[in-house]
Amino acid sequence: MDLLIFGARGDLSARKLFPALYHLDNVELLPADLRIHALAREDISVEAFLNDVKVRVRKYVDDSHWSEEQWTSYAARFVYHRIDFSTSDGFVTLSELLSPENPALFYLATPPSLFGPICEHLGATGCLKGDRRLLLEKPIGHDLESCRAVNDTVGEFFEEDSIYRVDHYLGKETVQNLLVMRFGNRFINTQWDQGCVDHVQITVAEPIGIEGRWSYYDGVGQLRDMVQNHLMQLLCLVAMEPPNSMTAEGIRDEKVKIVRALRPINESNVRDHAVRGQYAAGWLRGEAVPGYLEEEDCPTEDSQTETYVALKALIDNWRWAGVPFYLRTGKRMPEKLTEIVITYKALPHNIFAEAGSEDVPNRLVIRLQPNEGIEMQMVSKQHSLRNKMGLVTKHLNLDFLGSAELDRIPDAYERLLLDAINGDQSLFVGREEIEESWRWCDELIDAWQVRAPTLQRYQAGSWGPTKGELLIEKDGRSWHV
Ligand code: BG6
Repeated sequence: MDLLIFGARGDLSARKLFPALYHLDNVELLPADLRIHALAREDISVEAFLNDVKVRVRKYVDDSHWSEEQWTSYAARFVYHRIDFSTSDGFVTLSELLSPENPALFYLATPPSLFGPICEHLGATGCLKGDRRLLLEKPIGHDLESCRAVNDTVGEFFEEDSIYRVDHYLGKETVQNLLVMRFGNRFINTQWDQGCVDHVQITVAEPIGIEGRWSYYDGVGQLRDMVQNHLMQLLCLVAMEPPNSMTAEGIRDEKVKIVRALRPINESNVRDHAVRGQYAAGWLRGEAVPGYLEEEDCPTEDSQTETYVALKALIDNWRWAGVPFYLRTGKRMPEKLTEIVITYKALPHNIFAEAGSEDVPNRLVIRLQPNEGIEMQMVSKQHSLRNKMGLVTKHLNLDFLGSAELDRIPDAYERLLLDAINGDQSLFVGREEIEESWRWCDELIDAWQVRAPTLQRYQAGSWGPTKGELLIEKDGRSWHV
C-alpha cells in the first residue's frame, strides 16, 4: 500500500500526520508494506527531510512511546519526492512508482486551491488506476458554491466512496463514544428527546489566538473555521436518529437529516439567535495578550472578522421540537474546553420543596477535551442529621484516561488515518452533509451582512462578550462554564 502526503513540509504533516503514523507503526497497526511518500516543493535530500521530521515528531511523542529503534524502522518507510503540484512533470515519476495492484491513498494536506490541479495531474499521468482513495483537509470551500466546485472537481476523478473528507473532531475518541453512549445504553437512549431534555449546550473554547495564521483566518472567521464543520458535526451526533447500522451511509444519512431540519437563522431572527465577537487585548493565565487587531501579522486596523460565535439553534423535527441547542466557540478564551452538556427538564413536581430543597436539574456533561470523560450530575441526599431532606448535586464520573486500557488517548488523526487505510468511511464527512452545512451557514452569514450587527468586543481571557451571555440568559438559562 502507498500513502502519498501532498504538503509534507507543512504544519499539519509535522504536527499531526507524521506523529500519528509513528504511533500507529509503534503499535503495529500499519500494513507491513506501507510506503509513505512525502511530497513537497522543496529541494532537500531525504536525509535532511527525515532529520527535520524526526525533530518535529519527537516534540509530539512522549518519552515512554519513543525509541530510536522504532524511529529507524518508521523512517525506513519514507520516500521524499520534490514535486511542483502545479505542473504534471513530477506526477509522471509518481505513476511509475505506483502499481495498479497496490492500493494508494492520496492525502491532500495542501491549500484547497491545489486540490483540482493535483487530481487533474494524477488523472492525466495514469496514477488513478486500481484502488485509489483521496483524503481532503478543510477548508472545503468558503461557502456552498465554492464547496460544490471543489466536490465537482474532485468528483471527476474519484467516486464518492473513495473520497475521505477529514473533520478531525470525528476522530476524537470521545466523539465516537458519544455514538456508543447514545445507541448502546437503553437508559440514555430513552431519555433523549424533547420530553426529557430542556436544552443542549456545545462549547468549543480555545485559549490560543491566531497563532500566525492571520492571513488564512481573517475573512474566514470562527463561523466558517469552527461552526460549519466541527460544531455542526457534534450537533449532528447529539441530535441524529439511530442509524440502522454503523455503516458510513447509515450514519451520514441520519446526520444530513439533522442539518436539513435546522431552522434557518436569517434576517428575521439573526439578532435573537446569533452573536459575533472579536477579542480585544486582555490577560490569560497572568500574561498580557494582544487583541485580534494587534496581533503581530495583522496588516489592518479594522477587520470585522469574528473570533467568537454564540448561536441558539433549533431543530424542527419530532424529537427536538422546542429544545434549544446553544453553540458557543471562541479564541482567546480562558481555557481549552470542549464539552457537550445535556440539561434535563425539571421534575413535574418537587416533593422536597418543603424541606427547603431546590429542584436541581440533572445534567449529563460529555467532555471531549481536556480530561475526556462523561459526567452525570445527579441529585442526591445530603448526609446530615440536621437537614433531613437536604439535596446536593453529586457527580458520577467516567474518566476515560483513568479507566482506559490504553496508557494514552490516541490522537484523532491516528483513528482517521487508520480508518482510511482500512477503507472505512464512517468517520468522514459525506458530500451532502458538508453542502447542507454550508447552505445553513451561508444564510446566517448573509443575514449578518444585511443586518450588519455590531461586532461585540470581548477581553482576551474572558468567556466572550456580554451579549453571548445574554443569548442564553434571556431564556432563563446560563452557560455551564
Ligand atoms: C481547526 C481550526 O480545524 O481546529 C483551528 O482551523 C482550531 O482554528 C482547531 O484551533 C481546534 O482543534 P482542536 O482539536 O485543538 O480542538
